[in-house]
Amino acid sequence: MTDKIIIFDTTLRDGEQSPGYSMNTAEKLHLASQLEKLRVDVLEAGFPSSSEGDFEAVQMIANKVRNVEVAALARTSKEDIDAAWGAIKTAARPRLHTFIATSDIHLQYKLKMDRDQVVARAVEAVAYAKQFTNNIEFSAEDGSRSDRDFLCRVFEAAISAGATTVNLPDTVGYAIPSEFTDLISYVKTHTPNMGKATLSVHCHNDLGLATANTLASINAGARQVEVTVNSIGERAGNTSLEEVVMALHTRRDCLNFFTDIDTKEIYPSSHLLAMITGIPVQPNKAIVGANAFAHEAGIHQDGVLKNKMTYEIMEPATIGLATNRLVLGKHSGRHAFKDRLRVLGYDLSDREIGVLFKRFKELADKRKQIVDEDLEVLIAEEILRVPDTYRLQYLNVVSGTAAVPTATVQLELGKKVQQDAGFGIGPIDATFNTIAKMTGTKSRLLHFSIDSLTRGTDAQGSVTVRLEEDGLQTLGKGNDPDIIVAGAKAYINGLNRLAHLKGNSWSKKIM
Ligand code: KIV
Ligand code: ZN
Repeated sequence: MTDKIIIFDTTLRDGEQSPGYSMNTAEKLHLASQLEKLRVDVLEAGFPSSSEGDFEAVQMIANKVRNVEVAALARTSKEDIDAAWGAIKTAARPRLHTFIATSDIHLQYKLKMDRDQVVARAVEAVAYAKQFTNNIEFSAEDGSRSDRDFLCRVFEAAISAGATTVNLPDTVGYAIPSEFTDLISYVKTHTPNMGKATLSVHCHNDLGLATANTLASINAGARQVEVTVNSIGERAGNTSLEEVVMALHTRRDCLNFFTDIDTKEIYPSSHLLAMITGIPVQPNKAIVGANAFAHEAGIHQDGVLKNKMTYEIMEPATIGLATNRLVLGKHSGRHAFKDRLRVLGYDLSDREIGVLFKRFKELADKRKQIVDEDLEVLIAEEILRVPDTYRLQYLNVVSGTAAVPTATVQLELGKKVQQDAGFGIGPIDATFNTIAKMTGTKSRLLHFSIDSLTRGTDAQGSVTVRLEEDGLQTLGKGNDPDIIVAGAKAYINGLNRLAHLKGNSWSKKIM
């Protein structure tokens, strides 16, 4: 008989808390719906006591997604557990997740507690959580570096107090597969009441071993795995959802387990996350990287043409990646168009598709082929568009080896047109400084990246920025063959969205 592996997704908690990946509430809601479609079993929506914004986001997710368990993280304090419960109590299936560190190094330096105190605190927290729900997960932070027998003692106490899942994290990504297998087997057999709970693992990727450790732990008896889309997470990230799921799927010949994941939603989920955060997936990332199914070498191409299985162990379609990705053109119908948008992670209404399809046809009349990036520009312009508070009228930049980079900018600010100039350490810096001076923005630039939409030196440059002001965050995007102009457009787009967020019911609109 094959065993089910519970997929606990922590993209919106452990993933989101890592630098560069923070999302606003609307973005989190959008991603949560996609994770529901992906059919994760548990969706960890956040850490409600960490901020008001996080609390609200978790609450909104708990109200929105109904076909998935929604978990919220809490330290072992009553305040944290109250906040977590407050945020998820309306979920269809809420789960409280409480944790405390168990390794000696954490006890001595971070918690300043002895082992007895940690056991008592864990028991108190689980018992306190139990008044709210029976669905309680307890995590032993830094479990992989904890004394084995102490770990078993803490788990036994937590299960006796009511924990239904006990999670063993490799918090610092230190474990290696053989050792982790051994640890899981030990904990499984030396925790007397382990039969009453699900054993879970949560690996980090500091040594690039998170997926290997997770698979090893499944073989050793773990039945829940904690993962993130695109492997995002603290430092080197968490275990990749797509890698574990596709390893189980592809190697069912030797890994006798299954998940409920709809594998066709893997690529749309990965793509949506990259779009929302503005951080692209590394091209050679397993499963979802741009090169994961690309065969460049002649000998490989030859083999694949003769029989795909010579060099391809998975069908791209299994993860929802259409192989005919470049064929949209003026003869493409509405159905193919809609399907392509779905693969890119956009679940749009018929009205929105109608608007986009019209623009798509206009574009396709001018160009032979429409690539995904063109569709994304259309979505940004037509669907995610906000009223322009600022509009770029003119930009002139002087830079080079013998000039102080200078930008002259003309902006439309409402009904007024203003012009100003400023300096910077480079042309982008000069442009941004000038725009910031003219708009008086207090926003912080959290992320800036430049990409090219097509190949060659005549390619369209694409700039993505992420801005933050007073706890509100938004993305800005700009495309232009001139990358400085693309940067100015992205910055102004981000400022327009921030202005819109400030003046609106910010949590309802997808920005
Ligand atoms: O890495 C870790 O230990 C965690 C716990 C809170 C589960 O994220
Ligand atoms: Zn973690």
